[in-house]
Amino acid sequence: MVAFGTRYGSTEKVAAEIAAILSSNGVGVKVLDLRYNKKETVSSYGMIVIGSGIMAGCWSKEAQGFMETNQDALRRKKVALFACCGDIEFKKDQSRNGSRSTSPRSPQGTA
Ligand SMILES: Cc1cc2nc3c(=O)[nH]c(=O)nc-3n(C[C@H](O)[C@H](O)[C@H](O)COP(=O)(O)O)c2cc1C
Repeated sequence: MVAFGTRYGSTEKVAAEIAAILSSNGVGVKVLDLRYNKKETVSSYGMIVIGSGIMAGCWSKEAQGFMETNQDALRRKKVALFACCGDIEFKKDQSRNGSRSTSPRSPQGTA
């Protein structure tokens, strides 16, 4: 399963791309838009990929809620997480003088 929370659609596109790659490798995948599927459980899936856009430093409430609701089952599953964001290391205090974090980041940091 690839489950995602999104506001503006980026995370949906990344989720679709991940699902396409898994499918092309012979893995059956369900893509779950958490805005519309709040009751789906993870019990019948072997691996769960969960992604979210980042707003004001937080995951979407749908993705957070999904992980909280399914936390016991997720502890027994293989879980992969991804986030779509502008700059995960952006700090509010740095925005006042215009400077941004310069620490090295993983090339996989966005998704
Ligand atoms: C109102 C707003 C707040 C945002 N806050 C953050 C943030 O705190 N940190 C960050 O790294 N990116 C932030 N972003 C950038 C989003 O995480 C980025 O556009 C992401 O792709 C959105 O995902 P979505 O299209 O799936 O909703 C923000 C974007 C908007 C519009």
